[in-house]
Amino acid sequence: MSRSLTIARPDDWHLHLRDGAMLEAVLPETARHFARAIVMPNLVPPVVSGADAAAYRDRILAALPEGMAFEPLMTLYLTEDTDPEDVAAAHASGLIKAVKLYPAGATTNSASGVSDFNNVRATLEKMAEIGLPLCVHGEVTDREIDIFDREAVFIDRVLDPIRRATPGLRVVMEHITTRNGADYVMANETDLGATITVQHLILDRNDMLVGGMRPHYYCLPILKRGEHRAALLAAATSGDTRFFLGTDSAPHPTHAKESECCSAGCFTAPNALSILAQTFEEAGALDKLQGFTSLHGPAFYRMPVNSDTITLRKSETATRFPAKIDAGDHTVTVFDPGFPVFWDVT
Ligand code: DOR
Ligand code: ZN
Repeated sequence: MSRSLTIARPDDWHLHLRDGAMLEAVLPETARHFARAIVMPNLVPPVVSGADAAAYRDRILAALPEGMAFEPLMTLYLTEDTDPEDVAAAHASGLIKAVKLYPAGATTNSASGVSDFNNVRATLEKMAEIGLPLCVHGEVTDREIDIFDREAVFIDRVLDPIRRATPGLRVVMEHITTRNGADYVMANETDLGATITVQHLILDRNDMLVGGMRPHYYCLPILKRGEHRAALLAAATSGDTRFFLGTDSAPHPTHAKESECCSAGCFTAPNALSILAQTFEEAGALDKLQGFTSLHGPAFYRMPVNSDTITLRKSETATRFPAKIDAGDHTVTVFDPGFPVFWDVT
């Protein structure tokens, strides 16, 4: 039975666009479906100043193909040297919409991240004052903490103390992967939201590890137990406005994924919305899809909902997505959910 659903055009509240040939290759995949995206600043070197963000924004817009509309929502990478006044000026001019906190060493290109939170206190206080959200990669990096526990420990040891010490700071817990993350958001009435990726809604760690290691399912924070996936799906399909889509689409060259030391990230930009439509339908929550993809994010970020729409259509034959896209001298492997998807964006 064919079925269709028209919703306000979605935004992606957590996206990696990279730079150069990779940026040119992946940008159309996002711009085709999404009006805006919060663009991660973890380039090499990272986007740390207002001047860096302005230059990166220009490069993104220059890479946008003729006839496509897309608004990059820029972020700054928080370091222990970040100047609160530079942040405030970049926010006041409308250039940046958030600041990103990576604990040092947590993930791809996070070496410049924060080790001592006392050294970023002045910036966090300035952000609370001006209402600029902090996007948080919520994992501790201590060697002795098991990788599957790093999010839960981060909430207790780092996030909750930061929020208590900085009243009014608006925080997005990025790509939550655990029941602990969802519960923490639900227990806090104000100033807290969370993004959830497509892969964390549909996969658990068995999908990545049973019967062989699947490098294209390796991302950070790492996939967790099935019970956590179930909690995330319940949160995303609940209609609770504190949860919204951040794909964390994170392209790496295929050779860097299919390698002895696989890079973290799933490239979901091309099929994120198709997979989500099917996932929400199977959960009996298709009526909650628009909130998750198109309404809750703008509400948190205090921006208007997009005025145009997209239509998702379900057909009887499975949608075909490209297995790979070309990116300069490399390819990027498109995320394969591991099951046929019958929805497509038309
Ligand atoms: O899987 C991930 N990939 N997680 C991150 O936090 C970073 C991202 C990337 O930049 O590749
Ligand atoms: Zn990310």
